[in-house]
Amino acid sequence: MGEHAEHAAASQRAAQPLRRKLEAPLELPHSSNIVGRSPTLATTTGLGSHSHAPHWRSPDGRATLLHGDSLELLATLPEASIDLVFADPPYFLSNGGTTCKSGRRASVDKGTWDRSLGVEDNHTFNRAWLSACQRVLRPNGTIWVSGTSHVIHSVGFAMQQLGYKLLNEICWEKPNPPPNLSCRYFTHSTETILWAARDRKSKHHFDYPAMRIENGGKQMKSVWRMMAPGRAEKSYGNHPTQKPIELLLRIVRAACPPGGSVLDPFNGSGTTGVAALRTGRSYVGIDRDGSYLQLTSRRLLDETGRPIDGTQLHAGPVLTPRIARAGLRVAAR
Ligand SMILES: C[S@@+](CC[C@H](N)C(=O)[O-])C[C@H]1O[C@@H](n2cnc3c(N)ncnc32)[C@H](O)[C@@H]1O
Repeated sequence: MGEHAEHAAASQRAAQPLRRKLEAPLELPHSSNIVGRSPTLATTTGLGSHSHAPHWRSPDGRATLLHGDSLELLATLPEASIDLVFADPPYFLSNGGTTCKSGRRASVDKGTWDRSLGVEDNHTFNRAWLSACQRVLRPNGTIWVSGTSHVIHSVGFAMQQLGYKLLNEICWEKPNPPPNLSCRYFTHSTETILWAARDRKSKHHFDYPAMRIENGGKQMKSVWRMMAPGRAEKSYGNHPTQKPIELLLRIVRAACPPGGSVLDPFNGSGTTGVAALRTGRSYVGIDRDGSYLQLTSRRLLDETGRPIDGTQLHAGPVLTPRIARAGLRVAAR
């Protein structure tokens, strides 16, 4: 058993009592003809065979959705098979607090999956799934994890405990945050995204030229100003914590090698999958809620009908010939 496999096994054991506290995985409705049971994972993802969870596979075989608990399903994926993990885990926010929705006070309730288990158990959970992700990452693979102060410090600490190599701390700034009704705090307007490589020896992939071109010819900074997703991105249905596609497109283009594999252990509405397919990568998404997987399958089906977009480069006025050539190379991929 390798070092990462041992870590993963230990974290799995530590997380077992926790799993009993969490809801049992939901079964998909039998009437669904979109998400069904099948014994094999998409071969194009290079993930081999799999016999536990119901799942959906895109017609082109590039996307696979697994239904169930991440801690269990991650353990069934082959070791060192994934180039990039994006995880938007429970932030442990839904604990009776309030926020402002459409100008009115509303309770924060994203779902039972978002309730805090207590500081210690939250950390045990974070460490367990981060360890399981580390096992499936390729040696040069990287992980991106989003969060607010409720969860991100635990995630960062767990990464340090597990020997991940921290690369960047992205500050996602939302230009249009809801106002703070209590007027006792600054308006919460950012989320943090930690980017880390599998371990200290990793030679991580970073498409520097593409990011520089996207930033109008200047080095891209770690503060990213992006709107929360609008209605157009929710045309297939709602998820309470959907991330903007612009954010995931940037992450996948920056850090996943062309044609590589992307995994999201907390799939939600499948934004990560949309970004992966749109940029020519393969995708594996896991969620315990079957209705979110159905929403995702509709979004992904839409993507498989479109041409792959390897360009989407925002060339600015200060483009030098060298950067332009780099951009053409990216566009040609
Ligand atoms: C924060 S949301 C992800 C949203 C996603 N990034 C998007 O753009 O739509 C987290 C998701 O993880 C799922 N989830 C929570 N705990 C889980 C677990 N232990 N195993 C699998 N899925 C889980 C929830 O059902 C929820 O859909």
